[in-house]
Parts: sequence; C-alpha cells; structure tokens
Amino acid sequence: MTEQEQLIEDLKKVVCTAAAAAKDFVGTGEKEAGDQAAVDAMRAAFEQAHMDAVVRVGEGEKDEAPMLYVGEKLGNGKGLKLDIAVDPVEGTSLMAAGKPNAIAVVAATDQGKFWDAGSAYYMNKIVVGSEAKGAIDITQSATENLKSIAAATGKKVEDLVIYVLDKPRHVELRKEIEACGAKVDLHAEGDVIGSVLALMPDSEVDALMGIGGAPEAVITAAAVVALGGDMQGQLAPQQEEERESLLSEGTDISKVLYLNDLVQSDWAVFAAAGVTSGELLEGPMDSTSDEILVEYLIIGPDADQVENDFYPLLAD
Ligand code: FBP
Repeated sequence: MTEQEQLIEDLKKVVCTAAAAAKDFVGTGEKEAGDQAAVDAMRAAFEQAHMDAVVRVGEGEKDEAPMLYVGEKLGNGKGLKLDIAVDPVEGTSLMAAGKPNAIAVVAATDQGKFWDAGSAYYMNKIVVGSEAKGAIDITQSATENLKSIAAATGKKVEDLVIYVLDKPRHVELRKEIEACGAKVDLHAEGDVIGSVLALMPDSEVDALMGIGGAPEAVITAAAVVALGGDMQGQLAPQQEEERESLLSEGTDISKVLYLNDLVQSDWAVFAAAGVTSGELLEGPMDSTSDEILVEYLIIGPDADQVENDFYPLLAD
C-alpha cells in the first residue's frame, strides 16, 4: 500500500469512527456532549494512523480544548508529514436537533500548507465547481458573480441555485440573489456541506455564497483542491472583539484569500462521514446487532479520486 493509500484508509476510519460516536447524541439536544464524543473517537483513531501530522485547524487553543487543539501532533510520527484540519461534528446544532447534514470531517495536505486561521472566526466565501473556475470575484457584488457564473456554466442566471446559510446577516444577500432571479437554497447550518454540493457536478447547487466559519473555509478549500473548482474568501468579523484581535495580529482584513492562500499545495484530501442523513451522506445505521455501517465520502489526493461507500464498525 502506498503512503497516500494508507492516508485514505486512515482518514476513512477517523471520520467514520467520529460519526459513529456522535450517533448516540443525534436528536438528544446534547450538542457539547455529542461533539466531545466525536472528538474523543477521532483522536483515538488518529493515534493509530500512519502519519506525522499536526492539527492546523482544530477544536480551539490548547488551554480551552484538551483534544485536537491547534498545534497538537497526530499519528504515529511516521509516514507523510501533514497538516490536518478537523471538525469532528460540522453542524453540532443539526446533530443535537436530529436534522439533516451533520457530518464528521477531516482534511489533510502537506505540512505547513494550510492557511492559519489565527483569531479569525468568520469569513465571507464564494465556492463554485470546476466549470466556473476563474469566474468568481469576491470583491464584486453577488449580482456580478451570478452573471459570470451563469456565463461560465452556460446556464441562465434564473437557473442558478445558490446555497446560503439562513442567518440574519444574509438578508440582503438573499434579496439580491432573488432579485437576479436565481434560487436561494437556504440551510440553517453547514457551509462545508453546501460547498461540497457546489463542487459536485451532479448536485443542484451551483455555488455557495455568504459568511460562515473561517476554520470551515480551510476544510472547504481542501475539498476544492481535491475535486477541482474555485473558491475565494475575505475575512468578515462579526463582532468588534474579533476585529480587534485580527488587527492586533497585524491581519489585513480586506485581503482576498484565494484558493492557493487557503491551501498552499496542489494536493489535498477531504474526508467526511454522515452523522445525520442529508443531501450528501446517510447517518450511521445498524446492519447487524454488532455492526454499524457509516457512509463516507473521500475526495483526493489524486485528481478525480472520489470514493463513496459504507464503512463497517463494531457496535459498542
Ligand atoms: P458548528 O458545527 O461548529 O456549529 O458549525 C456549523 C456552522 O453552520 C458552519 O457550517 C458554519 O461555517 C458556521 O456554523 C457558521 O457560524 P454561525 O452559526 O455562528 O453563523
């Protein structure tokens, strides 16, 4: 087995183990406990992984998050030297409420090549599939971007479907998209899954637009590198405290972050597993009394390498 094949196997196990651990918390309202169970399971799986990796995007700083914190070493110290971005449960509120589209997700690339989110919490993003590569400009209005996405994909603006998080900050964006005649696909949470849908040629979603998490942007960028497509981001602090932290770190808030800023390598792997059933993945299901099947999606590291299947895990 090559080291990249080993990486695929390890990341598959990491995300599926985390999703299975979160299963018991689906619909219970226990957001933090479900997240913690997934973190613990993910970390245990990483301990057995053949890699010399460091967490670049994680569950927070060391003092605030005992596990999977930024800077934590992962793996057995052998094999590929990697940066890892994790979100043990992306869509914790969805998991807690038993709603669709909660996933366990991990991304990897060469060590030192993921963008360091620092104090950044929120980022404005546009994500499109490969047909619209080169057609986006986050400094322009949504209207201008819709026109050029439509031109690049050979569609009418009226036929475009844009995934947007259902947040008060997006009221104007929604109005603008709708005024252009395009359809808004509104979701309470989950902009990683929205981005992956935008990248998938056979999904209805043509683009993701709007402000979501900055750490999630790194995970998303890994999927864009792995699957092909385009992405731009721009920090969008939502509170004065975040803005001040960024300024005190010397961050240029207005800088456009291109795909090769977010992932400074020509390869990446994106791995996700379903925590609740949704548009992309099914949630974990019992196959026999002692086996759980977890649906996963792996993209990369080779161009066009997509693997979507069910991973069997022993039930507790
Ligand atoms: P969590 O699982 O960390 O709660 O993230 C869910 C999510 O919807 C992300 O997909 C998105 O990037 C972010 O939250 C948006 O943050 P907020 O809900 O604060 O607007």
